[in-house]
Amino acid sequence: MNKVLVTGGAGFIGSHLVDALINHGYKVGIIDNLSTGLKTNLNPRAEFFERVDVRDKEKILEIFKKFLPEYVFHLAAQTRLRRSVENPVEDAQINIIGSLNVFNYAKEGGAKKIILFSSAGVYSSECNVPTAEIEEVKPFSPYGASKLAAEIYLRTSFFNSGLDSVILRPSNVYGPRQNSEGEAGVVAKFLGKEQPVIYGSGEHTRDYIYVKDVVSACLLAMQDDIKGIFNVGTGVETSANNLFQKICDIKGDMNVSRGPEVKEQARSALNSTKLRERGWKPEYSLEQGLRETVEWFRNH
Ligand SMILES: NC(=O)c1ccc[n+]([C@@H]2O[C@H](COP(=O)([O-])OP(=O)(O)OC[C@H]3O[C@@H](n4cnc5c(N)ncnc54)[C@H](O)[C@@H]3O)[C@@H](O)[C@H]2O)c1
Repeated sequence: MNKVLVTGGAGFIGSHLVDALINHGYKVGIIDNLSTGLKTNLNPRAEFFERVDVRDKEKILEIFKKFLPEYVFHLAAQTRLRRSVENPVEDAQINIIGSLNVFNYAKEGGAKKIILFSSAGVYSSECNVPTAEIEEVKPFSPYGASKLAAEIYLRTSFFNSGLDSVILRPSNVYGPRQNSEGEAGVVAKFLGKEQPVIYGSGEHTRDYIYVKDVVSACLLAMQDDIKGIFNVGTGVETSANNLFQKICDIKGDMNVSRGPEVKEQARSALNSTKLRERGWKPEYSLEQGLRETVEWFRNH
């Protein structure tokens, strides 16, 4: 049975990926320090390396030696943009040094392929929208910079000799299990316990992609002939006002408060033609994905 190691497998996207890999017959190992991930997200058929931090070189080495994965999905990360501004050093320690530990031992341990989760946050705010992979990378936040740094390390000839790699740059992912607390994704925030807030005019746009469509991109990324950088988005821009209305259409009317304008990118959407040409496409419309997400939040 092929073995796959997933870092961040107790998190939102990672736990959906683990479920899909297990359903496809893979033997899955999970590295997660449970800083934002949850034990309840863990698939009981996966092997969980309890509370291991990607910054812990010795433990990471030990796991790679023991588990000997063929494929490695690296999702464990400091994902909060504001936190990266408040503590860029911690962000770099997790997203750069932690990633290097994973890359190093994946290579040393003889893994065949590593699939890195990067972000749309690596692109410049000046890029054309929808943004393609060839556009300028110039991150706005320390989070975007640490994600880009990990990409650059993985693309060096050093790591690329003997270790295939894929870099996925997803847009705004939403779906069941997304954490609604703290600095969360917009959909989860709108569905969480606190009253939704729309900042500024609410006309800034994002590209909302359903988590199951991101998982199908991950499975495709495992194919031998897929290598390099791929955006994972719908290409469709949806404003915060429009998203809120779509959720109200499903859930019923909700109160919303209006907050001050915040400094953020006015428009964002990804051109995923490159991945589409390899056979991937998003299967879920925003309405379908939101319906499943609303249902999950209702029951949890
Ligand atoms: N959610 C999105 O919209 C989105 C968009 C683009 C890219 N991404 C990327 O996808 C990946 C997964 O994000 P998510 O939304 O599922 O977030 P998440 O917070 O739910 O998952 C991250 C997981 O990593 C674990 N983790 C964090 N720091 C760790 C450390 N030092 N050692 C070990 N484990 C650690 C957390 O406990 C958590 O389970 C991240 O790399 C993120 O940057 C997410």
